[in-house]
Amino acid sequence: MKFSVIALLSASALVSAAPVAEPALDERQAAQSIHEAMVAKGKKYFGTCADQGRLNTGSNSAIIKANFGQVTPENSMKWDATESSKGNFNFGQADQLVSFATTNNKLIRGHTTVWHSQLPGWVSSIRDKATLTQVMQNHITTLLTHFKGKVYAWDVINEMLNEDGSFRSSVFYNVLGEDFVRIAFETAKAADPDAKRYINDYNLDQASYAKTQGMVRNVKKWIAAGIPIDGIGSQGHLTSGQGANAPAAMAALCGAASECALTEVDIQNASGSDWTNVVNACMQQKNCVGITVWGVRDNDSWRPQGNPLLFDSSYKAKSAYTTVLNAINAASSS
Ligand code: G3I
Repeated sequence: MKFSVIALLSASALVSAAPVAEPALDERQAAQSIHEAMVAKGKKYFGTCADQGRLNTGSNSAIIKANFGQVTPENSMKWDATESSKGNFNFGQADQLVSFATTNNKLIRGHTTVWHSQLPGWVSSIRDKATLTQVMQNHITTLLTHFKGKVYAWDVINEMLNEDGSFRSSVFYNVLGEDFVRIAFETAKAADPDAKRYINDYNLDQASYAKTQGMVRNVKKWIAAGIPIDGIGSQGHLTSGQGANAPAAMAALCGAASECALTEVDIQNASGSDWTNVVNACMQQKNCVGITVWGVRDNDSWRPQGNPLLFDSSYKAKSAYTTVLNAINAASSS
């Protein structure tokens, strides 16, 4: 009897010694924050994507507050959401996400200014250089100015390469040629010089793959030519087994720019080693600043087949979450 009273007293002393702001386990749904574990290793963040609809649903906000340190708007900063008709800007949804992030001390990755997809028809139908240049400059300048000082990094250009490493046929490339890269990055730098400027793409998950090599080759060339690119983002939309190639791929990408990140990770039918390998791919590169997963719950993923995320449909942390946490904690510091 006496022993259990002492045990109870020591347990309550331990509880009262815990930091006041520490979220309860039922909010976190996991033993430790993967974001805090990343920061303890010298990284900037572990993040996820979100938008207003998700933040207002179920336990998403609580989980993001407790476990993640960075958010990327899943759709609300894209061209179709922000400038669906020429010169008429709408930041309603994006402002909500930015407000959540700044209130809760989360970094923001701005996503995305120049992308062939979710692009309104009035942009994709432009055929002359002067008009497209002016339209791109106005779009980039207006977005980056609106969010100036609040965004850690912008995906200035998204998904510009084909699988063979050549340039994708988009209105930007077809009308302006390769020069659209210079125009986009120079405009971004002028609008918000302190935000990091990224080029972001998918299927950069194997070092020997032509698209990965095309990215490395072009980014080195553009940086050498004075184009102000700070980082390469590798989206990391993977399927089972692909994690194995991620460390070598990130070594190649991170060698081409001053920083790099895994920006949209999800792994369909992942084995434990896939998540460990993907985490290691960032941890092993000193200039890899962080990892973002593309959603909280499996069933809210853009591709829910194969349960690709870290939380299940009941908002419970999966074994994948613990695998990620263990891989971070086992890594050397940057
Ligand atoms: O907003 C409309 C809504 O008005 C309409 O009623 C509804 C009917 O389908 O569609 C809504 O738009 C959807 C939009 O998400 C917002 O929810 C689109 O149909 C849907 O296609 C769109 O999907 C997004 C996709 O990008 C579009 O390309 C996904 O949520 C988003 O996760 C996904 O994210 C991309 C990254 O930005 C870039 N890398 C690849 C990644 C996965 O595709």
